[in-house]
Amino acid sequence: MIQFDDRRAVPFLREQELSSAGVRGLAAQRALVSGSGAGSDWLGWRDLLADPNDALLERIEHVATRLRAGANVIVVIGIGGSYLGAKALLAARTPYFKSSRSGPGGLLGGDSDSSGPEILFAGHHMSGRYMSELLAYLDGKSVYLIVISKSGTTLEPAIAFRILRQWLASKFDNTSERIVAITDAKYGALYSLAQKSGYEQFVIPDNVGGRFSVLTPVGLLPAACGGLDIKALFYGAVAQMNDIAASENNDSLRYAVLRHALLKSGYETELFAFFEPSLHYFAAWFQQLFAESEGKNHSGVFPTIAAYSTDLHSIGQYVQDGRRTLFETFLMIDPGGKTVIPDDRDDLDGLNYIAGRTLDGVNEKAYQGTAVAHEAGGVPNMTVRIHSLSEENLGRCLYFFEHAVSIGAYLLGVNPFDQPGVEAYKKEMFTALGKPDSAV
Ligand code: PA5
Repeated sequence: MIQFDDRRAVPFLREQELSSAGVRGLAAQRALVSGSGAGSDWLGWRDLLADPNDALLERIEHVATRLRAGANVIVVIGIGGSYLGAKALLAARTPYFKSSRSGPGGLLGGDSDSSGPEILFAGHHMSGRYMSELLAYLDGKSVYLIVISKSGTTLEPAIAFRILRQWLASKFDNTSERIVAITDAKYGALYSLAQKSGYEQFVIPDNVGGRFSVLTPVGLLPAACGGLDIKALFYGAVAQMNDIAASENNDSLRYAVLRHALLKSGYETELFAFFEPSLHYFAAWFQQLFAESEGKNHSGVFPTIAAYSTDLHSIGQYVQDGRRTLFETFLMIDPGGKTVIPDDRDDLDGLNYIAGRTLDGVNEKAYQGTAVAHEAGGVPNMTVRIHSLSEENLGRCLYFFEHAVSIGAYLLGVNPFDQPGVEAYKKEMFTALGKPDSAV
């Protein structure tokens, strides 16, 4: 279950502002649910939860079992919505330490459970150093590739896939058995390549945009390869959608309305903060979801992320005391760890006052202190809380934020499901690269 706490945000808003945003939010939610809002042909991410395809979930698990049995390393190739959801899920659930993994933010950014293959990522940037170090690292290992691109023409994953499949062909026979492609149902360069080469193929439904695709094979296959229970994940999202449907005045709507009212009151930047480092990529997924959905027509909250308590020692001063245009959303997990701070006979470090407490309990107090101090310093803040980082709760969080961002975009009067702005840099980049008009 998700708990939502807005007590430290409401005092920053005028009653009138909040109630007017509330009325408009309700209308926005009705437009989303009835499919009458802008971009309503992109609501497949809701349809697939309303009518779960268990046969597809089982096929994904079956393919993941094959890859897990054969691979030392699975390289997942993709960018943006074809990368961040899988990365978020794997990073959230993977043990922090395993001899072969680099950890969240590590150079190779690897993820894996303790028993299965290592999951690495490529095609999410164009660092030549990363690619050459990756190829060196893969040498001598049994490698499988999952390549994900709806358009099939995105430059970063297309280049990475060309390099990696040629490397694979130089090392193994029958390389097509080592490649799984997740593509559009009918079109695109990757679709054609997969068809011609006989790769195992999964489809990104036509009516699901990249950043809303985490609960399709795009997020689910890498997650299953990392040992996650994808049925629990998927049905967690289904449960959250049903809970939300049960009450028009639900917390996801409330969160969307408060964000909007805060924006209108001058709080233009949302700091999405967490106290568990493994949530870093969940926050990155959140950031893309909100930035690409809302940032249009010169409007929208600017979403950024903070890893506390680490970042309290870097941006904490600014948050407490800098320009008053920030609000915070904390994603919290109930303290559950068993690591206890030991008693010390001499107490030279003066920590005996917290001896016997768990480290997670102290982390929770750091959150409580931060929320109080930031509110006092003029930073409205809200908390989304889950009991544990289970697959079910992760699924619930995915839907909670997808629902909220759709309402948020409708409140701004923009289409949540397009991203016309990201084409501008691509156009200039292709001009600089001399891409011919005839190229795909
Ligand atoms: O949300 C989006 O639509 C984007 O982030 C895309 O997912 C990203 O650009 C990758 O696109 P593609 O899957 O076509 O390679």
